[in-house]
Order: sequence, then C-alpha cells, then structure tokens
Amino acid sequence: MDSPDLSEALYALEAHHGDIGDMTIADLFAHDPRRFADFHVVLDDLLFDFSKHRIERTTLKLLLDLAGAARLEARRDALFAGAIVNKTERRPALHMALRNMSGTPMFADGIDVMPQVLAERRKMLAFAEAVRGGALKSASGECFTHIVNIGIGGSDLGPAMAARALSPFVSSHLDLNFVANVDGADLADTLQRIDLARTLFVVSSKTFTTLETMTNARAARQAVIDALGETAVSAQFCAVSTAAQEVASFGIRDDRRFLFWDWVGGRYSLWSSIGLSLAIGIGTQNFEDFLRGGEDIDKHFLAAPLAANIPVLMALIEIWYRDFWDYAAQAVIPYDQRLARFPAYLQQLEMESNGKSVDLAGAPLDIETGPIIFGEPGTNAQHAFFQLFHQGTAIVPVDFLLAATSIAGDPKQHHLLVANCLAQSEALMRGRSLAEVEAKLTAQGLAGDAIAALAPHKVFSGNRPSSTLLYKSLTPRTLGRLIALYEHKVFVQSVIWNIDPFDQWGVELGKELALRLAPLVADPQASTAMLDSSTAGLIAHLRGLRGP
Ligand code: F6P
Repeated sequence: MDSPDLSEALYALEAHHGDIGDMTIADLFAHDPRRFADFHVVLDDLLFDFSKHRIERTTLKLLLDLAGAARLEARRDALFAGAIVNKTERRPALHMALRNMSGTPMFADGIDVMPQVLAERRKMLAFAEAVRGGALKSASGECFTHIVNIGIGGSDLGPAMAARALSPFVSSHLDLNFVANVDGADLADTLQRIDLARTLFVVSSKTFTTLETMTNARAARQAVIDALGETAVSAQFCAVSTAAQEVASFGIRDDRRFLFWDWVGGRYSLWSSIGLSLAIGIGTQNFEDFLRGGEDIDKHFLAAPLAANIPVLMALIEIWYRDFWDYAAQAVIPYDQRLARFPAYLQQLEMESNGKSVDLAGAPLDIETGPIIFGEPGTNAQHAFFQLFHQGTAIVPVDFLLAATSIAGDPKQHHLLVANCLAQSEALMRGRSLAEVEAKLTAQGLAGDAIAALAPHKVFSGNRPSSTLLYKSLTPRTLGRLIALYEHKVFVQSVIWNIDPFDQWGVELGKELALRLAPLVADPQASTAMLDSSTAGLIAHLRGLRGP
C-alpha cells in the first residue's frame, strides 16, 4: 500500500465510512426510488443485485477510484496477456485460455498456448465420449459405468462440485465418484459402492506428487490388481496432470494421459483436463457450454466499464466491508440444492488465493485481506446458522444465488424456495424494530410485563447487507459463469490488496510436519523427545489407545 494514489483513495473511503456510518440500507431505499434500477447489472439472463448494501453512489465512486488507483485495468490486461502475475512461482495465470472457444492466440512466455490447449481439449473430450458411449471397454470387455476421480483440492473440488451441480445433465448410466481424503475410509466406502470390473479411475493431480492422491491411487491400483489382475490396470486407469513423466512412471498409458500446464493454478483447473470426469458425465456439448459460460465472463470482465462490471463490483463491495467495516466473514448461500458444494469450492478459490499477509514484494500488509468464506444451501442454512446472521453481534454479508426455474424439480416447491431467498435478503436488510415488536405482541394480547421481557429478544437490527445473483436455471453455461465471476472477483481483490493470489505457500508447513510425524505415529517405539509436549502427549495417548 505504498502508492500515494492508493493511500489517498483509502483515506477518502475511510472518511466516507465515518460520514455514512449511521445510515441504514432501509433509509437508502426510502430516500431513493431508483435505488434498485441503479444498483443492479444484467448480463444476459444473469442479474446481479447489489442494492441491499451499505453503499450509496459516492461509496461506489470512491471504490472505483480505489480500483483506478490500483491500476486495475492495466493489471487485468496484463493477466490476460500472460504476464508473470504469480510472482513467487514466476508463472502467468492463464486459465482463461482453457475456455477460449475461438482459439484467438493467448500467450505464455511469448508462446501462443492455444494450439496445445485446443489439441489437449480435443483429445480429452474424444476419450470422454469413448468412455461415455461405451466404445472404450474395461479389461473384461464391459462398458464403464462407474468413474472414480482420485484427487484433492483443485483436482477434486471442481469436478466434484460441478458433477453435483449438473447432475441432471449427467448420463443416467454413469455413476461419478470422488475420492480425496487420505483417510482410507473415503476410498473404502467408494470401493464398497462400485463394481471394479466396470470402473474407470481418473487420477487427477497437477503435480502427481500429492500425498493424499498418490496414496489413494496406489491403494486403488492394488484393489484392481487384487480383484482383476495386474493386466487390468492399464485398462482401468487414466490420469490428468502437468507432470507427464511421473504419470508415465505410475504406469499410465500414453493415450490415457491428459496434460495441462503450470500456468494453470490447481484451483483454476476445472476448465482443463481436470474436468475429465465431469466431461465423461455430461458429454462434449455440455462441457463446451460450461467453458462458454466462463468465456462469457472473461469477455464481460474485459469489456464492461468498471462501474457495470459484475466481478469488479463484487470485489469492491467485499473490500468495503473487509477493510472499512471490519467484517471478517462472507457467506455464500445458494438457494439451489445442486450447488451444495459450491461454497466449499469457493473456500479453496478464495481463501487459498487471498489468505495472505504479505504484499507482492514480501512486505507485511497493513490492511485486512481475504475474509472467511462459508455457506450451505438455503433453505437448510436458515435452520442452522441464519440466527446469527439476523441477530448475532457479527455482521456477515451474504451472496444469495438463486435460479428462476428448477431443472426437474417441482415448480410449486420452487416458488417456496424463491420466496424464502427473497424473504431472507429483505429481512436482513429491513429488520424489525422494538416498536414494531411491541405492537405485534400487543396485538397478540400479551400483557405489559410479558411484552417487556420478550420484546428485546424479538428485535432484528436489520441493516445487514446482501447481494443476489439471479439466473434462469443451473445449466452448464450458468455454472461456468458463476465460477468465472468469483475467479475474477478474487483477482480484483488481489490487485487492490497487492498480493499474489496464485500461490499457496500457506499449505506447505503442515505437509512438511506431517511427513516428519508419520513415522512417529506408525512406530510405537519411535522417540518423541524432540516434539513439543502437546504433540508428544497426544502421540503418547494415541499409542495408549491403540494398545500394545
Ligand atoms: O495443498 C494445496 C494444493 O497444492 C492445491 O493448491 C491443489 O489444488 C491441491 O493441493 C492438489 O494438488 P495436486 O493437483 O498437485 O495434487
């Protein structure tokens, strides 16, 4: 934060925060009949409503000034031009190339990546169609009916989330499974459900060294060998990775290796061959529609003026709350059951990207960065943690995601779902005052003492912000759009905070320590003298529980 322009923009926002501190969102609506008209953006069937926020026109202007001071447009253009935006790993971040449907050149290290992207996409989709259509057979000559993706983080959350989101588009004869955890229960439970002779394992790992994935992949290979013999392995396994050599060493045939590149971050890799299990499930046309959805947002992000640019607005509003109101969390509540894993997917996308405390130059930041992201589908979440949203001392801004129509759901039930979503954002914004509560209790016939005792518990302070993303239905294209919106939102925030959103060094220490501890956990005789007393005490108790 050492640019004078940026400091000035931040000071202006700080002063503005002081000025509008008392103003409520309900007041803003009361004083401005045009508020919704001016505080929403439409992109085809997708509507982004940002009117229920603690912002007025001046706030938006100052936030856009902040984006200008951070040279957002130049930084965005550099991202798309393949500049080294991942400074600590010295890489571009060109996941947009994976959903570039026209093949227009895009460059990494001065080389047009599109010919290899298109060739690999063709190879992957042809393989997916062969599995899907039954042309490709298992070792015993049967069609594949079970697909097991083995991967973790970006090599799991994307395809697993999308397979659930797009379940109506998945062929009914295919059963998609996802194994991630090094907890052997994950693989064991999956093996229970499937017929190994008709199962294709997709080992997905950018690095092909990840402990969880390689452990599960080896265990799955052993299960195949035990059940079907060594020769079955080559027919029942394929792999997706950037590490061609490691994949070959694992014994995966050349025509079953699907590659991507180190300029694709793990959490941005669903658009690549990492989407293989999804592509097998939904087929080429739907997979390409999904990519088109991502491309729609790339075009919007590049072309729309910042004041009408959805990911930019999403990012700036969240920064407003994180850095000026000190709101530490952000909820994402899809009123769309099939998006049940979307919050988990966003947790990696957002928290692995923007959970940083040093700037691009390595200097400690004096500004708060990425909030805690969490969520569950509505209406379920209403019956769990919405109490805190409405009456807790913490303020949690919410993104509501809502489909106008349900695919294959009962339309009457969908009306109830929609009504609940709209009711929640209205209730959060409007609240219910003490006077309103007292009047209601009086009308119910309660006496003065009873009213005095009960009324404070029934007050809703309101003034709690939310956005709503409303779309026609959860199609592959819509899903692509939603994901890309959040990707670019994260990027915009990283520009303002001047952090590297494409590295994830914070996951390394735990991995290293786990490797050091593994032999001590496995061997009851190994000395724990070098450990801190808590870790040593836990291991001692664990050894006791396991017995001699
Ligand atoms: O540990 C974090 C991480 O590196 C993620 O960024 C990544 O998505 C995940 O692990 C899996 O990595 P890989 O695809 O290399 O197995």
